[in-house]
Formats: sequence, C-alpha cells, structure tokens
Amino acid sequence: MSKFRSADWFGKKDKMGFIYRSWMKNQGMPEDMFDGRPVIGICNTWSELTPCNAHLRDIAESVRRGVLEAGGFPVEFPIMSLGETLLKPTAMLFRNLASMDTEESIRGNPIDGVVLLTGCDKTTPSTLMGAASVDLPTIVVQGGPMLNGKYKGHDIGSGTNVWTFTDDLKTGKMSYAEFTEAESCMSRSPGHCMTMGTASTMACMVESLGMSLSGSAAIPAVDSRRKRIAQLSGRRIVEMVKEDLKMSKILTRAAFENAIKVNAAVGGSSNFVIHLTAIAGRMGVPLDIEDFDKLGSKMPLLVNLMPSGKFLMEDFYYAGGLPAVLKQMSSELDMDALTVTGKSHKENIADTGTIYNEAVIYNYNQPIIEQAGIAVLKGNLALNGAVIKPSAATPGLMQHRGRAVVFENIEDYHARVDDPDLDIDETCVMVLKCVGPVGYPGMPEVGNMTLPKKILAKGVTDMVRISDGRMSGTAFGTVILHVSPESAIGGNLGLVQNGDMIKLDVHNRLIELEVSDQELAERRKNWVAPPQASNRGYVNLYINHVQQADKGADLDFLVGKSGSDVPRDSH
Ligand code: FES
Ligand code: MG
Repeated sequence: MSKFRSADWFGKKDKMGFIYRSWMKNQGMPEDMFDGRPVIGICNTWSELTPCNAHLRDIAESVRRGVLEAGGFPVEFPIMSLGETLLKPTAMLFRNLASMDTEESIRGNPIDGVVLLTGCDKTTPSTLMGAASVDLPTIVVQGGPMLNGKYKGHDIGSGTNVWTFTDDLKTGKMSYAEFTEAESCMSRSPGHCMTMGTASTMACMVESLGMSLSGSAAIPAVDSRRKRIAQLSGRRIVEMVKEDLKMSKILTRAAFENAIKVNAAVGGSSNFVIHLTAIAGRMGVPLDIEDFDKLGSKMPLLVNLMPSGKFLMEDFYYAGGLPAVLKQMSSELDMDALTVTGKSHKENIADTGTIYNEAVIYNYNQPIIEQAGIAVLKGNLALNGAVIKPSAATPGLMQHRGRAVVFENIEDYHARVDDPDLDIDETCVMVLKCVGPVGYPGMPEVGNMTLPKKILAKGVTDMVRISDGRMSGTAFGTVILHVSPESAIGGNLGLVQNGDMIKLDVHNRLIELEVSDQELAERRKNWVAPPQASNRGYVNLYINHVQQADKGADLDFLVGKSGSDVPRDSH
C-alpha cells in the first residue's frame, strides 16, 4: 500500500509515533487502526445553533459506517458552524473565518481524505473554500432540505413565505397568532430551507460541480436515503484517497462552467455568484463576474421551485432531482467532467435522470423561462458590477427609471420606511447604503428591503431596490445586489442623494445614476466614510482584508492554496 500523509503521524516508530498513537488510543482504538489505512476526516458543521445542521451527528454516523466498511479510519471533528438565522450581524461575516478553521483543521491533522457535512447556506462554501486550499480528496455530504412546510392546507416555503407573511402582518391580513402558528408549520422537520434558497442552491452547486455522489442534492434530510447516500459517501472517500482523486482534479474550469449553467436551470440564489467565485479563487481557477452572465444568463429555467416558482425541494426530489436537470441540460454542459465517483456526469446519470413530474422539472425545449440566469449589471453606480436575478424579478420593472429614495444605513431604513410622510411612491428606486462587506460589516441579506407600508397597502408587491448587500436566496423582487465597489469604501452608491434619477436596464445590463461626473466629483469631496464597526479581533481583520463582492468577498490573503504538505512535528 502506498504511504498516505497520516503515516507521518501514526507510522512513526519513535517518540512522536508514541505521542500520536497513544492519545488516540484513549478512545479505544485498537492497534491495527494505525496500520497505514486511509484516515478520513469527517468535518462536521453540526450545531444546535445552526438548526439546519442539527441532525448532522446522525448523518456522521452513517458516513463513519461507510468509512469503516471500506477499510478506512474515520475521525469526526467539528468546525465553526454558521447558522443563517441566529448569527448576528450576519453569518456571511464569518464564512471566511470558518473556511480558515476548516483549512487548518485538515492540514494540521493526520487526515488523508475529507467528508464535508454541510447544510445551512454558509456551511457549504466555507468548508469547500477551506478544503480547496488544502486540496485533498474530498467529498460533500449535504444535510438535505426540510420537508415541505404545510400551513392551512397549503405548502409554504422556508424564507419565501416569511417575506409574504411579514407583508401580510404589516397590512393586517394576518394576525399575530396566525403568524406564530405559521412558524411551527414552516419548519417541521430537520434539514435546511426547502425552497431553492441558498442552502438548496449550494447543494445543487456541489452536485453539479461533481463534488457529491449523484442524486444527493435534493434528498430530504429525514428521508432514509439521506443516510444511505452518507454511508455510500463514506465508502467512496476511502477509494478516492487510494486513487488520489484530489479536489483539483474535479474542480476544473469545466466544473465551474457546469455549475453556473445548472444554477440558472434550477433558479438558484444570487449568493451563488459570490460563493462560487470565492471557491474558484481558492482553487486557482480563473472565474470573473462576467462569466456568470456570459455562461448563465442565456440558460433556461427548468425547475419550478420557490422563490422563482411554486414547488419545494421535496417535490424536486420526487420529480427526479438534479440528475433529471443534468440530463435535460446535457447539450449545454460538459458531461465528461469528472466527479467524485471517479466517473463523468454522463456515466453517473446513464440510468437515472428521468423526469417524474413535469410540473416541477420542465423540459429543456419548453422551459419556464427561456433566459433565466443571473445578470451582471454595470454602470457608474456599479463600476465593478452588480447582480440581479431576473427569474425572481418583475418583468415590467426590468427597464425602469425612477427617483432615488435613499437610506443611509439599515437603522435609517428601519426608522423611516413606514413613516407616512416619507416621500415615496412605487415608481421610486429604494437605495440602501452601507450594507456591503466592509460597511455592515459582512454583507448581510437585507437587499430585499420590505416595501413601505403605505405602498404595500395599495397592493404593490415589488419595487426596484438597490444596495451593496445581498438578499436571501429565498427572497424575490427586482432587487439589485452586490454593488461593487460598495458605498462604505467610496463607491458611487455612497454618493446617491434623494431625488437623483436612476436608470435600470437589465436588457442592456445597465445601472446608471443620472448625475454628471463633475457633480459626483463635487459630492466625493464632501463624502465622509462611515466609522469602522470594530478595531479589534476577527472583525478588524475582516474589514481590512475583505475583497469586494465581485471578487467573492474572500479575505485577500486566503485566495489560493497552501496545499497538503505535512507541517513540522508538534513536540
Ligand atoms: Fe439554514 Fe435557510 S436558514 S438553510
Ligand atoms: Mg440565507
């Protein structure tokens, strides 16, 4: 048997070998566990503070079983878990921190191959980014979505219906008692958001990149086949180590291009752009924001899931899941791209990929929307780009000119949005500043600002909104996001004033502030940067090193990889 990196710990016949083995033996491991077999790290993002991942200790047991069956040595370890709902000011602030945790936990330990257990939005990109910077054989086991929400006889979707219920509560269509009842009805099983929000988007991204076993993205968390795929993944990672099937052999440019096209077809989250860019950055695969438009925007929408459509992940699984989408998209994709199975997508789905419900997964030739992928906008308001998700926007607003109503920061927005005297109507463009990576800090999901009460009362449900923040993958609307450069570092977004005219033209990929360069230069002279949120700790490090959204919002010194060379001994 060839020598794996774990042999630099457990294979030593000296003092260090004693230290490395003896303390592991306190867990009851017999001698032959140290005989040079592949050591598989099960990187667990379990946490009760990340409800979407709270079942992952169970899933880890299934992975462990598979690793043992295949003759590997499983070792489960925790990393910082990022829960989308509880973590303030936003889980995104800590994505890069969790990626550092993942990277160093893998490299510094006797690990030959890695299983990433993921679920909630940021737990997928953070672990993939960290693992990519080490580049060992790696496989992802997603935690799976919750069962469909059920409320008063209707299906309700994670996140998506939070936005509609909030509007209903605001306008009095829903009582507070109904509101709290709906909470229990929405989240009624383990798993992550069951809309095509960011977690489901990330699960599909993983499968389309070739980083998980085929057919795994959509399996509900509580479906026994979720454990089955976990066990099979545990077996497979042991083989991957023997084959030296490293991440970099799978995450090629072709894999990233496939993921972009598939993201359009599934109606994936706008957050996809930022996370995929960051992962590519770690891998050293060139990918820029224009690639998302060039490769994705002409792709058809095939999957009818909230927030772009009507169904939920459980329906998607029963309808055929991602293999059916891959099959429909075959002519657009590089089906020869290698996956963790050691085979291509084409081989993986040779006997699968049937559509069982054409209301949920559409045919490539008769899509829901012909051109659905994320569009990248540029103009003086976003010199380095901004994004919009057309499939979740209002067609009538895709070309729009309106008067800016400016909120200087999120507190300003909350204080004034429902003021009856606020000078705003539905033709205006809502502008929110200071919610970018540096400004908030951490680029929270507040870009889909709830409309003013008086406008909602008219029955209006959408307006053009612009910010340097993100929006939840479960959200919808004509929302321009990720404006780069952001307002807090002096981007033109920070110079917008009430009453300025803003022109949006998605067809021509334009987002323009109708203010002369001369006037902007004048305003810039008087512009004062907002105070920095913190001067110490990780937040300080983050603010000083975070890249802008168009570059994936990674920390500048984390781009690239350090590889898997074994560091010096600890004693
Ligand atoms: Fe965790 Fe949506 S809150 S996936
Ligand atoms: Mg989210």
